[in-house]
Amino acid sequence: MADTPEVPKPAGAIPPPIVAAPAAASVAPASAAPVAKPAAAPLKPRPKVQMVWEPKELHRRDWMLVGAWSLFAVASLLSTIFYIVRFLFPNVTYEPPLQFKAGLPTEYAPGRVDERYKAAFGTWIVRDDRGLYALSTTCTHLGCTPNWLEGEQKFKCPCHGSGFRKSGINFEGPAPRPLERYRVGLADDGQMIVDKSVKFQEEKGEWLNPEAFLYV
Ligand code: FES
Repeated sequence: MADTPEVPKPAGAIPPPIVAAPAAASVAPASAAPVAKPAAAPLKPRPKVQMVWEPKELHRRDWMLVGAWSLFAVASLLSTIFYIVRFLFPNVTYEPPLQFKAGLPTEYAPGRVDERYKAAFGTWIVRDDRGLYALSTTCTHLGCTPNWLEGEQKFKCPCHGSGFRKSGINFEGPAPRPLERYRVGLADDGQMIVDKSVKFQEEKGEWLNPEAFLYV
């Protein structure tokens, strides 16, 4: 269908006045009888919200909470006790005593190196024709522990090959000086006493000290 062509408005034409519609139509006359309001619709009953209590789940959660707090409390208590004990009893290193009794001199055979106190006290007891002396088992190179080789009659250090004679004198390897000797003496009961707190060094002429050798 063809559109109706729009008629052009003449220029300068005055539009017709807008007439307001009578308002009385929607206003009820004052004398009119009051209109009864329609009865309010009955309120729909609200759906009841049912409170669901899940005693089982709540109970489990509570116990988990109590358990966690208990664990935390026990852990805190234990760590506190641990630190108190550490404070009261600090780390103590128990080293072998510096003095020890080494038995009767007659227990040592002449010409032998005795190793019974090597492990516990780091000491060899050696007896020669005149008496006894106590040798340190610490290599004078870097502090390793040499081994006594009975067949070769020498102390041999496994670390860098230093060798020491039965007397303790160094003769091979990098060790710069002889083994050290400890003070020796006799106790009242006739036993030999070794005192590691006093050392004698050959290169200082200290082996001549009477306490560096026990004549028997
Ligand atoms: S520590 Fe004994 S030779 Fe080096």
